[in-house]
Amino acid sequence: MDQSLIQNTVHFVKSKLEGAEAGHDWFHMERVWKNARLICESENANLEIVELGALLHDVADSKFHDGDETVGPKVAREFLESQNANPETINHVVAIIENISFKGGNFQKTFSSKELDIVQDADRLDAIGAIGIARAFNYGGFKNRALFDPAIEPNLSMTKDEYKNSKSPTLNHFYEKLLLLKDRMNTETGKRVAAQRHEFMQQFLDQFHAEWNGEK
Ligand code: ADP
Ligand code: NI
Repeated sequence: MDQSLIQNTVHFVKSKLEGAEAGHDWFHMERVWKNARLICESENANLEIVELGALLHDVADSKFHDGDETVGPKVAREFLESQNANPETINHVVAIIENISFKGGNFQKTFSSKELDIVQDADRLDAIGAIGIARAFNYGGFKNRALFDPAIEPNLSMTKDEYKNSKSPTLNHFYEKLLLLKDRMNTETGKRVAAQRHEFMQQFLDQFHAEWNGEK
């Protein structure tokens, strides 16, 4: 594998994400990269594609580009071309970026590969557990959402746009998305780590409701 390509990608992603919102900053990419390498140890996959996909998967998230989902893949392609990466590698990494998102659950995958499965699991692991909780409240704060509102029920049938524009309190995000992730993991390692992180989120939610209700 071309280690200098990985190192150049690290530098590129760090510079692109300078000042990014804390849930989507360089450290998110670094954690996803770590998760992806861990998962890859037990899978028969192309490690270089997995690492590049993990590092570049959120390089220009559509949430921060007026919903434009073509920016991230385009930025990644231009970068990899500037590095003279192998065209097959470029196409595969770009396909991973185009297909990774959960998008409220109503997004049809148009491409599949073991490498996509791994990067998607690695990204999902960073959305659950203690880090997942921190990221959700950080994002909710960024969007000026309530922590919780007992009058607003979780809604599992919103379209992607409705979801983005909704004023749904952050706690609802756990029921609308985060608690669903453990059953959507692709790989055995992903499933194992997700089960433990899910359990921790469940404990957090039980404690949150107990405290909300003035118990203990
Ligand atoms: P990804 O990292 O795959 O791009 P998303 O962009 O869907 O994931 O979300 C990034 C982070 O922001 C995740 O931790 C997610 O839980 C959080 N997030 C997204 N939408 C909401 C929301 N409506 N309320 C709270 N957190 C959210
Ligand atoms: Ni991500």
